[in-house]
Amino acid sequence: MQTITINNLDNIREAAREFISRMGDTTVFAFRGKMGVGKTTFIKAICEELGVEDVINSPTFAIVNEYRSATGELIYHFDFYRINKPEEAYDFGYEDYFYSGALCFIEWPEKIEDLLPGDCANIIITENEDGSRSVTSEELE
Ligand SMILES: Nc1ncnc2c1ncn2[C@@H]1O[C@H](COP(=O)(O)OP(=O)(O)OP(=O)(O)O)[C@@H](O)[C@H]1O
Ligand SMILES: [Mg+2]
Repeated sequence: MQTITINNLDNIREAAREFISRMGDTTVFAFRGKMGVGKTTFIKAICEELGVEDVINSPTFAIVNEYRSATGELIYHFDFYRINKPEEAYDFGYEDYFYSGALCFIEWPEKIEDLLPGDCANIIITENEDGSRSVTSEELE
């Protein structure tokens, strides 16, 4: 079990760099944690560290946001919160994204649990008593 600590918003970029260094060959990451724990904020920091320049809006209005890293690679950021039935994920063609080889960062994977690829990494974010966040995963290197 690997744990990365986000002490506060001032050192989140450092935590994001550590996360990136431990991603290995995994491309699909399911971010789990209660509402407001900081999933979007951490994914945004990771994307910024990967050189995404466009403003990263909260994707809550859309299922998927597409970004491009400094090296020109596509990154997909999903928020499945508003999905009510897995059929809605079928309708927008989730497979084209998950199996594209591009990095996929997923919020609210619980909504589409059965559609996640077998080699998806589970990333769990929890808030500690002092307000810091722990990012834990069995799959990070
Ligand atoms: N590591 C952190 N330390 C302190 N505050 C944080 C941290 N991460 C996020 N926050 C704050 O918590 C709030 C919610 O963050 P965020 O939107 O990232 O949560 P979320 O898990 O994506 O929520 P949702 O479940 O609604 O998608 C924001 O106001 C943000 O500034
Ligand atoms: Mg969010």
